[in-house]
Amino acid sequence: MKIVIASDHAGFFLKEKIKDFLQKENHEIIDVGCHSHVSVDYPEYGAKAIEKLLNKEADYGILICGTGIGMSIVANRFKGIRAALCHEPFSAKMARLHNNANVLIMGGRLIGDGMAIEIVKTFLSTDFEGGRHERRINLIEELTDKLK
Ligand code: RB5
Repeated sequence: MKIVIASDHAGFFLKEKIKDFLQKENHEIIDVGCHSHVSVDYPEYGAKAIEKLLNKEADYGILICGTGIGMSIVANRFKGIRAALCHEPFSAKMARLHNNANVLIMGGRLIGDGMAIEIVKTFLSTDFEGGRHERRINLIEELTDKLK
């Protein structure tokens, strides 16, 4: 799979761990930064990753900041993005099964590497269930279009 990954400084170390894991699993990774633990602004990196995903250069996105909240707010502003903030595997599974999430978000200051890797594995190995969930996802797009 092709996965675009991004973080701010607070998510940098976890991003590196996840990147190593995914590369060992033979996934193709696009790392749009940041590239050190020096303080940066998470919206810049979140938006760079979303741009790659919307341009179909990647199948999924993984974004990490301190809490995951800032990255979630940024990612979900873009049409067609369903970003899920997950700190345990059950949420990651449901995010795929019911929400067809295309972006996984985690807080680097909240969870350890082991938990994060389990979350990533679950997210990438779970398929969307479709059916009534498809209707609900389509409804999100319809309703947000109406408010513009
Ligand atoms: C950075 O200090 C922190 O605010 C950021 O990583 C993130 O948690 C924002 O939501």
